[in-house]
Amino acid sequence: MKKRIFSGIQPTGSIHIGNYLGAIKNWVQLQNEYDSIFCIVDLHALTNPQAVLKMQEKILDLATIYLSAGLNPKKCILFVQSQVPEHTELTWLLNTITPIGELERMTQFKEKAQQFKQSINMGLFDYPVLMAADILLYQTDVVPVGQDQKQHVELARMIARKFNHQFGETFNLPEALIYKNSAKIMSLSDPSKKMSKSMSQGCLFMTDSPDIIKDKIRSAVTDSGSEIKYDPKKPAIANLLAIYSAFSELSSNQIEQKYKNKGYADFKKDLAEIVIKGLEPFQEKKKALDKKPDFVKKILVNGAKKARKIARKNIFEAKKKMGLV
Ligand code: TYM
Repeated sequence: MKKRIFSGIQPTGSIHIGNYLGAIKNWVQLQNEYDSIFCIVDLHALTNPQAVLKMQEKILDLATIYLSAGLNPKKCILFVQSQVPEHTELTWLLNTITPIGELERMTQFKEKAQQFKQSINMGLFDYPVLMAADILLYQTDVVPVGQDQKQHVELARMIARKFNHQFGETFNLPEALIYKNSAKIMSLSDPSKKMSKSMSQGCLFMTDSPDIIKDKIRSAVTDSGSEIKYDPKKPAIANLLAIYSAFSELSSNQIEQKYKNKGYADFKKDLAEIVIKGLEPFQEKKKALDKKPDFVKKILVNGAKKARKIARKNIFEAKKKMGLV
């Protein structure tokens, strides 16, 4: 039997190359080897007060992005989280065994709480339990994500272990799968910060036009010196090398050799070309699929049916173990 993977992205606006390189690009390969389920996590997005605006548009856009990037509904299940109500049902069950102290430790919660000081909602605090429910509901083995989600996957594993211990063997213990080179793509304008949807400055979006890509890469922050060489003490060039490497499949070493006697200007010019070329097939496919919203919606409806079948079976099992059935 194939191992199962599950992952998801929030429909909170444009998808950047951090999401692409850290997540979607890897999923496209993994769908060939794993029993694969990919979700549009709209319930998670609700924790951001602005996300409710045009939610249906954003969901459809993210689904179109998934398909245009190469996810194939014949090889994987694609669906919208809120269309499978068992996610929220399992969240409640898991809430009852999750220690508050564990949630208070979550780095992402602490950062978001800082960012939304005036409006820290309960959903933001409970976010990792909903994510654990997403993962455990499908008896997931492997969760392919970027570095920032590692702590949440570890929490899901802890919750599964606790549930099994308390109520008897029920859930698989999931593991995060993180690709080292693209685990954390940094902002082009501030390489000490993660490229992030909430900080659109310094973001390279998957739908950016060639001119915008050229512009953004040309004006990306650089470090002192002029050498194109990986050095952890030089985060700007390290980040640009990671992006170059992910799009070209060349190693850092090979790239360093190529630019031995060249400077930043040449390197950045080529990097822009590589990114533009790398995103071109995706952008063309997206333009075509944008004209077929009904086709995309149908894939999501079918996906939800398939996901729900698995979810129903597992929620029943969990409720039975807890004495509810
Ligand atoms: P989200 O929507 O913030 O991000 C989606 C995916 O993109 C990765 N990512 C990055 N990777 C590399 N560099 C970056 N700068 C970068 N920014 C984002 C994230 O690690 C993620 O893999 N909580 C999740 C969504 C979620 C989920 C799940 C994931 C909900 N339920 C169950 C896996 C399994 C999130 O907010 O991702």
